[in-house]
Amino acid sequence: MSRADAAAAVPQREQWTGQTGFIISAIGSAVGLGNIWRFPGVAYESGGGAFLIPYLVALVTAGIPILFLDYSIGHRFRGSVPTALKRLGGKLGEGLGWFQVGICVFIALYYTAVLAWSSSYFVFSFGRGWGDDTAGFFVGEYLKVDASPFTLDFVGAVLIPLAIMWVVTLVILGFGVVKGVQRANMIFIPLLIVGFLILVIYALTLPGAADGLNAFFTPDFAALGDPNVWIAAYGQVFFSLSVAFGIMITYSTYRRRRSNMTSAGLVVAFANSSFEILAGIGVFAALGFLAFQQGVGIGELEGLTGPILSFVTFPAIVNEMPGGPFFGALFFGALTLAGLTSLISILEVVMAAVRDKFGWSRAQAVYGFGGVLAVISLVLFGTTSGLTALDTIDAWTNQLGIVGSAVAMAVIVLWVRRKGPELAKHLSTVSTFKVGTIWQVFTGILAPIVLAYMLISKVVDFLTNGYEGYPTWYLWVAGWGSLIVILVFAFILPSVRWRHDPSKFEAWPTNEQLGVKGGAR
Ligand code: ALA
Repeated sequence: MSRADAAAAVPQREQWTGQTGFIISAIGSAVGLGNIWRFPGVAYESGGGAFLIPYLVALVTAGIPILFLDYSIGHRFRGSVPTALKRLGGKLGEGLGWFQVGICVFIALYYTAVLAWSSSYFVFSFGRGWGDDTAGFFVGEYLKVDASPFTLDFVGAVLIPLAIMWVVTLVILGFGVVKGVQRANMIFIPLLIVGFLILVIYALTLPGAADGLNAFFTPDFAALGDPNVWIAAYGQVFFSLSVAFGIMITYSTYRRRRSNMTSAGLVVAFANSSFEILAGIGVFAALGFLAFQQGVGIGELEGLTGPILSFVTFPAIVNEMPGGPFFGALFFGALTLAGLTSLISILEVVMAAVRDKFGWSRAQAVYGFGGVLAVISLVLFGTTSGLTALDTIDAWTNQLGIVGSAVAMAVIVLWVRRKGPELAKHLSTVSTFKVGTIWQVFTGILAPIVLAYMLISKVVDFLTNGYEGYPTWYLWVAGWGSLIVILVFAFILPSVRWRHDPSKFEAWPTNEQLGVKGGAR
């Protein structure tokens, strides 16, 4: 069968309805928990205003270049992550693809749990259902955290919203790229932006807000000499921009052949960072208010990042505030919507991959395989040990998995398979913002060196210092164990037979056939 026949014989890939559908969905993916609960605390702990320097350096030298790398792979080699990377780099590429899919599976399992908590807290906000002792409520009454790091004691109050979140996400995915993913983003993202803007403006009017902003923005330039601050900046940018774990490869395959990729990428990166800084302003204005009420300095407050910021410190702020329930509902509503649109993108990576490999329909993948993932998520995170599991798997998948994946992708794509010039040419052919040697230097040399350094220091840190005082056996099971499971699948799956032949299905016309001059293909 000729290439043209092969192209005609397979169904066309689903497509966003245009540039706007893609950009809004990509922003929906990028803006998530990373922006709201991670960025403000990380920035504060890593030099305040001075953190903007490593943050911007990380964004320009690694975040945006690797975002473009994801786009170029997805758009040129059109297919789910293992398909696209197999077309680019054979079995080695496919293995990397499954590694990225595995990271998405693990992130999805715990990300849904955070959305479940957040939707419960949205409901609690109206009556300040957490009472006066917000820490005691979160850990003791709501999550019922057990001293043992692994139990099978289910917590109904978590299990029910967790199941609902899975159903909502899978139903959206079941409707497909345009009617499900794009439509959900088109509704949720404007709602999120308006809701969050109201929240920030409200927070800025509170007494003490200016002190909060001073604490957030006052630069501590000495922090820039600390390698951990730079590591934190690179880690933040990667998770937050949704790069190097398959999402942007998958989303860019749903674009038309002639689509302006790099300009869209710049818009997404700018929007994501703006949201992040806005979140920092809103959160610290609110923390300034809390410190003011308690008559302490911001530095004396505890719980400024992660789950504790959102589920302990924020409820405490809501308790002190005039109009607290409204503020709480806005915050937890925003957290839920931001997380939901990111979760959709994380799971779409997984669904697209298993559909390509096993020849399943969207419904089979979403409701069958997605259903299995939902059950695993309920078992791991609907129990009294859910918080510990979440904390550990998050640290390992993010700080080792995503960073390792970025290094491997840069090395395999640019060094082993030497696809840098071809991908640069492809991006420049279809986009108005051209990329060339500088992009290849950042993606192929600078970013992998910095990221490899980060990766090694983190591995040494986890091996020598452990994590959060959890037992070593537990870290081997939940932390290292997650990565080992992902790696085993990444090794095995490339040897499993494809139900679709990726060298034939969804073949795309050449640039000459499209009338694109100067294209590489
Ligand atoms: N980019 C998503 C986030 O920031 C995954 O949470």
